[in-house]
Amino acid sequence: METTRRGFVAILTALPFLSFFSSGFGSKPRRLPPTPPCDDHDDPTPSQTEGPYFKPASPERSSLLEKGASGTTLVLTGRVLNTRCEPVAHALLDWWHADDSGNYDHTGFRFRGHQYTDKAGNFRLETIVPGLYPGRTRHFHVKVQAPNRPILTTQLYFPKEPQNRRDRIFNPALLLEFPRKDEPNTASYTFVLNT
Ligand SMILES: [Fe+2]
Repeated sequence: METTRRGFVAILTALPFLSFFSSGFGSKPRRLPPTPPCDDHDDPTPSQTEGPYFKPASPERSSLLEKGASGTTLVLTGRVLNTRCEPVAHALLDWWHADDSGNYDHTGFRFRGHQYTDKAGNFRLETIVPGLYPGRTRHFHVKVQAPNRPILTTQLYFPKEPQNRRDRIFNPALLLEFPRKDEPNTASYTFVLNT
């Protein structure tokens, strides 16, 4: 009994030293990686119909602006994240949208193009505000794909657009944000892929 009590006391006495050495002699305390800012970006971006005007094999480019094309220039920036709020590097974004008059280019690749996110999951696209065409509100089409993962086909919408209320597939979760009042032609969107 005495032996057991002495052993117990010995363990208690040694505990602080054991924990000191187990944390690494002379090393700095280990830090967990910081949690990325998630905000409300933990729900996957909803999918939407592709529509009839997608064309494969669009050119790779980050600007769809072309000489002589009319329309209001728009710079669209954003990120591609997964549902754990981690950036998705080298995600494909394949864009297509109507011109200023509401027409799609069926013969060439005007206002069509694809690009990839950088290492931090960021993208930046220069284009114009798409025109309206009958039966739809103002929108972008886009396909987003993490490397070797399924494709998300969806559309993005403009806030304060009167036609949003009458559009049969409009989804407020797909509204562009215009965070800078001093730069009204700068919009942003964060895609969340279910990967
Ligand atoms: Fe469309």
